[in-house]
Amino acid sequence: MLFKNKSKGITEKQVLAALSYVDDPDLKKDLVTLNMIRDIQIDGKKVSFSVVLTTPACPMKDAIHNACVNAIHLMVDKEAEVVINMTAEVQNNQADRQLPNIKHVIAISSGKGGVGKSTVAANVAVALAKTGAKVALVDADIYGPSQPILFGFEQARPMMETVGDRDMLVPFERHGVKVMSIGVLVRPEQAVVWRGPMASKALRQIIFDTNWGEIDYMLIDLPPGTGDIHLTLVQALPVSGAVVITTPQKVAVADARKGAEMFRTPQIQVPLLGVIENMAFFVPSDAPDKRYHLFGKDGGKALAEGLEIPVLGQIPIRESISIRGDEGAPIALLNDDVLAKSFQELAQEIARQLAIRNATLPPTSQVQIQTP
Ligand SMILES: Nc1ncnc2c1ncn2[C@@H]1O[C@H](COP(=O)(O)OP(=O)(O)OP(=O)(O)O)[C@@H](O)[C@H]1O
Ligand SMILES: [Mg+2]
Repeated sequence: MLFKNKSKGITEKQVLAALSYVDDPDLKKDLVTLNMIRDIQIDGKKVSFSVVLTTPACPMKDAIHNACVNAIHLMVDKEAEVVINMTAEVQNNQADRQLPNIKHVIAISSGKGGVGKSTVAANVAVALAKTGAKVALVDADIYGPSQPILFGFEQARPMMETVGDRDMLVPFERHGVKVMSIGVLVRPEQAVVWRGPMASKALRQIIFDTNWGEIDYMLIDLPPGTGDIHLTLVQALPVSGAVVITTPQKVAVADARKGAEMFRTPQIQVPLLGVIENMAFFVPSDAPDKRYHLFGKDGGKALAEGLEIPVLGQIPIRESISIRGDEGAPIALLNDDVLAKSFQELAQEIARQLAIRNATLPPTSQVQIQTP
């Protein structure tokens, strides 16, 4: 066999040579070139090493693990005992920036109201946290904050703590996610009379004056449309990517598209990671094989094609999604549940598209907008 050397036993060089035949299917380069192989240890026939993936939510984790074992058996020693520690290190898009401990900021957006931005953001946050990622969720919807309900802290007041010489907000920790809502600073009934600059100030405050700690993914639940809050966000922080939510309905698609195009304007240039089609179809619980397309069909697909970005996933319309949302316990928390699984797959797909974006594009720049 190619690298076999019986007399001297297995060497690190042989292990690396074999693993250089294993590609990351998304990044389309081998694991050695991608510097994903670490801590190789060899003890007789036992070969152990770590594979450091780009996200703990990697959907290809098992496939990559198996490919590594096969490569060692095939190219080094078929009797080797291969022990792999699969870990992840999310690349940092914010290094040297204002919040270096927050690696990625992801905007959850839609030009259209009521399509499920907040519900999807809450469930994706929970699903990402379940994979072991460190997740924050910022509710930036000043006129209709939803996360205090979806995470069950609408009656709670935020705590403060002193960090160095600053007084900072303590995020609410629920279901493994650190959450903060603009709603804890401003009551929505007051917010309606607020002018743009005040809303922007409140958003900056919850982003910069909250003690987040180390975060892999910070999701921003945006209000509908394209307003001051959106501009504040892209000026405050470099946003790694935006996801666009729509229902299949034509009017929703048209509005969602307008919202998405804002991220593409030359002044902003935030990459679009993909489209989520929410309320895609209805499946009756007594007839699980049937799909009713209540709001039309393939609207998400049409939007994704129009924008030339992928469809990240489809979420059906189900009462249990909204009931669990109202109860402060997003459905993604459940194990062995078909809807929780669809959010899990969606979270993995977002993490995957972000890893591809990181490998193919430079870090996002913070937007400088000249105000007259
Ligand atoms: N897949 C789903 N199945 C059933 N109900 C859903 C689903 N997604 C969202 N909903 C419900 O639809 C309503 C609107 O959802 P949500 O508040 O998440 O939308 P939004 O886009 O954040 O709205 P807004 O534009 O007001 O911020 C809520 O009552 C929510 O419970
Ligand atoms: Mg909302």
